[in-house]
Amino acid sequence: MSGAREQFGSRIGFILAAAGSAVGIGNLVGFPVGAAKNGGGAFLLMYAIFVVAICLPVMLAEMSVGRHAKKDPLGAYRVISGNSTGWKLAGWLSVITPFMIAVFYLVITVWIFGYLYEIVTGDLAVLAEPETFGNFIKSERIFIYMAGVLAVVYLILQGGVKDGIEKAAKVLMPTLFAMLVALVIFVLTQDNAMKGVEFYLIPDFDKINAGVINGALSQAFFSLSLGMGIMITYGSYIDNRSDVPGSAKLVALTDTAVAFIAGLMILPAIFSFDPNTDPSQLSESSIGMIFSFLPQIFLALQDSFGYTGASIVAAVFFLQVFFAAITSLVSIFEVPVAALMDEKDMGRKKALFILGLMMVVLAVLSALSFGYNAFLSSFVSYAGQSKSFFDVIYDVFYDTILPLNGFLICIFVIYKWKKVNFNKALDEGAENYKGSFFEKYVDFSVGTFIPVILLAVFINTVALKYF
Ligand code: PHE
Repeated sequence: MSGAREQFGSRIGFILAAAGSAVGIGNLVGFPVGAAKNGGGAFLLMYAIFVVAICLPVMLAEMSVGRHAKKDPLGAYRVISGNSTGWKLAGWLSVITPFMIAVFYLVITVWIFGYLYEIVTGDLAVLAEPETFGNFIKSERIFIYMAGVLAVVYLILQGGVKDGIEKAAKVLMPTLFAMLVALVIFVLTQDNAMKGVEFYLIPDFDKINAGVINGALSQAFFSLSLGMGIMITYGSYIDNRSDVPGSAKLVALTDTAVAFIAGLMILPAIFSFDPNTDPSQLSESSIGMIFSFLPQIFLALQDSFGYTGASIVAAVFFLQVFFAAITSLVSIFEVPVAALMDEKDMGRKKALFILGLMMVVLAVLSALSFGYNAFLSSFVSYAGQSKSFFDVIYDVFYDTILPLNGFLICIFVIYKWKKVNFNKALDEGAENYKGSFFEKYVDFSVGTFIPVILLAVFINTVALKYF
């Protein structure tokens, strides 16, 4: 498509859209559960250090590459590298990875949407039964909910950058935040809530080991939407006068604040449900937490607030997670859309249609891999474990390739694009960045220990997961 490149309408619009991408299911549930299991305040501290010391510099690398090239990730790698075949491969990875992650993120969002719908229609009590989730993910209703979620994503994306993505973020993000604060205030007024706060915040350094450190880093990396080409793509929609380091800091801060505040909602809720729980012994994964444990907690509220009251609280929770998931899904879907538009000169509607169809096929296959279809349920097996189609996508793209993409972008900006150009690009629109301590830190870290750490995480995952 020729004509001027689409752009965000304002700086705050860009920040909200990028924060909308970053704030997702990972913040609202993944982080609190991870923190509760792994040392509370100690985990929080480590997470915050990783966000500032490792993730923020990678975010700057991604945003500056996008803004400088004014292209999708594939085009950005191609143009800046002067058409090098090897770097084009890195570009491909940054487009395929988000597309595949979108598949599993879509499936989870569909479940959330389904739960929301069923709560609103009066079925909270059913959802709180232990076997419901297992049956729910195998039911045909999933496909109707999937159509609903895809329609929402489609409607937002067909509006384009300013009238679609930015507008949605401007409505959904403040609403999400208001719901989160309301829920925090509500749970904090429940009996025993303070025990949860205590548990959440008091550091337990004994819990910290290599696995926990690795988990905190992966969580931070995923939470900031790095390694998925998203920040490259969103960066390509801002002009050269905007302050990239300043915006990136605000995005990271918002993301971390939401994760932190979500802990003040989840942990007190667990303790008011059962003051004797030991969250460090929780066997629930984040998924089990959202779809089995929390519905039980919400249902228990009926003793004091009646069934309708309990359903309202549950509905607000699921609506909030749904909003967070939608702005993330939109951002990740925009990456391949931008790639088709830029690389194939295609219009937005056509690109959306083609990718939408491909997405439907893969998402249906993933949804069918939960016991529905024997072949898809045990698709392959590695390291002695049989894996479903859904598991494979998760393992390969989320767990393995993300840190590799992070490693590649670091090497790319410092050794291919070169430090001077990287700095010149970041200085534009950010006079106070030039010569600052932060600039020196970013330069040094992106060229040295950050890629080393990300490569180590990648190699370690490959060694542990597949052999
Ligand atoms: N940052 C999101 C989260 O924490 C993750 C995500 C973003 C996933 C974009 C997909 C797309 O949940």
